[in-house]
Amino acid sequence: MARKILVTSALPNANGPIHLGHMLEHIQTDIWVRFQRMRGHQTIYVCADDAHGTATMIRAEEEGVTPEQLIEQMRQAHLQDFTGFGISYDNYYTTHSEENRFYSEHIYNRLQEAGLIFSDDVEQLYDPDKELFLADRFVVGTCPRCGEPDQYGDNCEKCGATYNATELIKPRSVYSGAEPVLKRSEHYFFDLPKYTGFLQEWTRTDAVQPEVANKLSEWLDGGLRAWDISRDAPYFGFVIPGTTDKYFYVWMDAPIGYMASFKNLCDQTNNLSFDEFWAPDSEAEVHHFIGKDIVNFHALFWPAQLDAAGFRTPTKVHTHGFITVDGTKMSKSRGTFIMAADYLKFLSPEYLRYYYAAKLNGTVDDIDINLQDFVQRVNSDLVGKVVNIASRTAGFINKQFAGRLADRVHDEALWQEFAGRAEEIAGYYESNDTSKAVREITALADRANQYIAGHEPWNMVKDEARRDELQLVCSQAINMFRALAVYLKPILPLMAEKSETFLQVEPLMWADVQQPLLGHTITKFKPMLQRMENKVVDKLVEASKDTPGSTADQGPAPNQTDHISIDDFTKVELRVAKIVAADSVEGADKLLQLTLDVGDHQRQVFSGIKTAYDPQQLVGRLTVVVANLAPRKMRFGVSEGMVLAAGEGNEIFLLSPDDGARPGMLVT
Ligand code: MSP
Ligand code: ZN
Repeated sequence: MARKILVTSALPNANGPIHLGHMLEHIQTDIWVRFQRMRGHQTIYVCADDAHGTATMIRAEEEGVTPEQLIEQMRQAHLQDFTGFGISYDNYYTTHSEENRFYSEHIYNRLQEAGLIFSDDVEQLYDPDKELFLADRFVVGTCPRCGEPDQYGDNCEKCGATYNATELIKPRSVYSGAEPVLKRSEHYFFDLPKYTGFLQEWTRTDAVQPEVANKLSEWLDGGLRAWDISRDAPYFGFVIPGTTDKYFYVWMDAPIGYMASFKNLCDQTNNLSFDEFWAPDSEAEVHHFIGKDIVNFHALFWPAQLDAAGFRTPTKVHTHGFITVDGTKMSKSRGTFIMAADYLKFLSPEYLRYYYAAKLNGTVDDIDINLQDFVQRVNSDLVGKVVNIASRTAGFINKQFAGRLADRVHDEALWQEFAGRAEEIAGYYESNDTSKAVREITALADRANQYIAGHEPWNMVKDEARRDELQLVCSQAINMFRALAVYLKPILPLMAEKSETFLQVEPLMWADVQQPLLGHTITKFKPMLQRMENKVVDKLVEASKDTPGSTADQGPAPNQTDHISIDDFTKVELRVAKIVAADSVEGADKLLQLTLDVGDHQRQVFSGIKTAYDPQQLVGRLTVVVANLAPRKMRFGVSEGMVLAAGEGNEIFLLSPDDGARPGMLVT
């Protein structure tokens, strides 16, 4: 039965650019959405920019524009980035809209009628220069526990202490540097504790992943507190009904932005009904995709808000983990805090879509982008395996048979192996376990390549008597390629489109794998995807160094450099090594193969220093090697470490200890 499904990704903050962390979420959502559409379900995907809050107001002020101008510029830029990655929203709106004002006021009024809103005095730090209240993140000072300067108002990065901003020693406002004062004002609260029983039940349905349910039950068992939903003027947001200077806290109206974006879409089309999706008895589904940092807003506050206001609750909240690059947090100084727009200047969106899909498994575990692995994975799986199936066989069909595929299936059992996987793979997509889907698909690609290699169509073509067989084998290969194009289509929409052109077929649907293409004419083959080049990734990393990143996630940082701890540093094992042999590597203009004596054994390291050194001059020289680097398989062999060199542009300077150092000595 066709389902009616409304899907959302979390609304990106309007005060910063889209980066590869956001992209994880929108790619994950888009894959799920495209999959559902291919299954024939009515699937509506909406998103918006999260426009409100102090940060937007301040940034607009700094840039000398109105908040409205700022958020519209940002919305355009965000949408351009997402479109560049093929994200297929039906609507991308803003929370600063009349629809959102309407539903925010409506929900608030319902909560108030239900006796769920009360007011209370709150004492809070206030910036007397800027004349605004300061959230904890916007106050910095010295840690009251360990004395470390420049710490945020909520916790100390040095000793890990958590405290109230009022406890900081020598506190100051990040906006003006002024010393904050305590000021009292009236705030409005949503009486969340009254919803404890409801939420205990709701979080135990399969609306959230099990590990998320566990986290939530810790919070629920610890006792919920009333939720402060108001902020004082000046603020960029909606005025709370019945007041003149109180605004909805940004997190109060942000999720309502999902509804508002959907409502805005309903008003542009005539086949969508708002109530069909949001009425309490709705049979449609509502799915939210979010990161693990915002689970409390989506799985506690939001369902309570909805239920209290007489709307349905979400069918599912799909939570993912965070992106790290090469094992650590994205970092501006390392060039791994990569903006979506920068990525798109250098690389195809399909590479990243594929890599994320290969890594996502439906849990909240963090996802690591290893740049080396990224290149290797894309090239070997997509170019080397999948596209290869068509590129090895399409030429024969085109040249020998005028593009016409055989009238029957050659190896029925093998074909069934492909068609018979449809439901299993669909199950993986449904549960966001795309890593398993990708594993199945690449295993099938291996089967297809084995089949081709086993039949050697390139030999058949030399023998007139084997013409029929040649057509059968190559047609089967093309059909296997088509099945893989179907299975990969949610992940790789561009490749699917090019495959549809090559195969001369209508847009591929999931059910299409059940019927092979027989007696059908295809067109000329053009590779759907190029190999990825390491050096292009290097350029992207270079271009990403110190680009201004989103301040949205972090708040303004008191100290912008990314420090590592001494523990991080001691993880790196540096040792003195003696170069006992240095050789050129055939087919690589920049690499030298070095044999290093590291005291108790020798090892082989490939190093990109050939342009600067004559290999013979290096023999006998001492250098420093990262000794505990995981061995890396390169095209020319395995590299067991890395030698250290300074460099800029084309200049390279190998590091060496003073005379007297012995191979194997630890460098600290
Ligand atoms: N505006 C709120 C969401 C409101 S939803 C009603 C917000 N915005 S955000 O821009 O900070 O983050 C948007 C989404 O991106 C969140 O789901 C967040 O978890 C996700 N990510 C931001 N950085 C991320 C990574 N480094 N890795 C993975 N996802 C991350 O929160
Ligand atoms: Zn401290």
